[in-house]
Amino acid sequence: MRTLNVALGERSYPIHIGRGLIDQPDLVLDALKAPRVAIISNETVAPLYMARLAGPLEAAGVNVTRVVLPDGEQYKTWATLNSIFDALLGARCERSTTLIALGGGVIGDMVGFAAATYQRGVPFIQIPTTLLSQVDSSVGGKTAINHPLGKNMIGAFYQPRLVLADIATLDTLPARELSAGLAEIIKYGLIRDRSFFEWLEAKLPALVERDPDALAEAVARSCANKAEVVAADETEQGVRATLNLGHTFGHAIEAGMGYGVWLHGEAVAAGAMMAAELSERLGWLDADQVARIERIHQRAGLPVHGPDLGAERYLELMAHDKKVEDGKLRLVLLKDIGEAVIHGGAGREDILAAIAARLGG
Ligand code: NAD
Ligand code: GLY
Repeated sequence: MRTLNVALGERSYPIHIGRGLIDQPDLVLDALKAPRVAIISNETVAPLYMARLAGPLEAAGVNVTRVVLPDGEQYKTWATLNSIFDALLGARCERSTTLIALGGGVIGDMVGFAAATYQRGVPFIQIPTTLLSQVDSSVGGKTAINHPLGKNMIGAFYQPRLVLADIATLDTLPARELSAGLAEIIKYGLIRDRSFFEWLEAKLPALVERDPDALAEAVARSCANKAEVVAADETEQGVRATLNLGHTFGHAIEAGMGYGVWLHGEAVAAGAMMAAELSERLGWLDADQVARIERIHQRAGLPVHGPDLGAERYLELMAHDKKVEDGKLRLVLLKDIGEAVIHGGAGREDILAAIAARLGG
């Protein structure tokens, strides 16, 4: 097991990465305030892992409430959040009850928001079971639900007490979801870690084949990058926004197609290509670099074009992004492979042209 730390003063917490961590109840027991937890999962993940997590905790004397939600991005809603509160109140969960998110980013984001708001805040633990949630969403305390007008629009910054990334849970993950996770991994290389990008170029076949050592290394290097950025800028006043490379375009795809049609990671990949395209128009990347970025996404099984909603429709949807300030769109772009910038100066025509060049996925 490898352990990293998210350094946030007295709210610092460990990220444990390894195989079989879900079967080590001591890791969870050590982080509990009281012997009372609610494990919240979904109807796909619960049959696979709920009993393995809950059984040993109960054997150790912990009172466990199990909550199983419907599966899917389309359920990341106010109504589902409310059903979590119904279950917690129905089971008389108290302020010292720890909520445990067992699942991918949808579960993690919703449970985190439930923890931030239930009785004005209860402790929570992230047990991410998708590659995407292990390398990104479980770390850093962004929690949210979607609104029909925009993704992740209602939420809070609220840090977990512990992240347990059990690489063995990835054995049951569908290939399409594995690829979606690779999009967020490639992102770290692109925005701030050129040597990681080069390592990924070499190791992609091993990652796609789910080689355990390669996966553990990719998760650890991604989490190390994320932990550094979050420690420097927890509430996204500056550098944390670079973690959203491709996301402003990608959120337009997710909202425009209907949540759940394109996977988040797929939308981020197509969005990263639009950002690369725009970076080339601004004279920062050259055509060879854009081709290299395209290749790594393709080798990871990811789309490099977005759905053809029309470039104007993208812009309309992008106007709802959280990075809009004073009505002005700020985009994460690339100065180089391994160097991101937040840029508010791209012209409308250049943005439209960059989107148009990447439609047809
Ligand atoms: P997801 O949570 O929908 O999980 C993907 C699918 O895999 C689901 O069907 C899920 O039930 C299934 N699954 C999960 N673990 C499994 C396993 N071990 N075996 C088999 N099936 C399994 O999607 P995701 O990609 O994990 O997360 C996407 C969400 O994360 C989006 O809502 C996105 O907005 C959010 N996100 C948040 C942050 C953040 O910082 N908070 C960062 C990135 C993404
Ligand atoms: N996934 C972007 C962030 O955590 O800031």
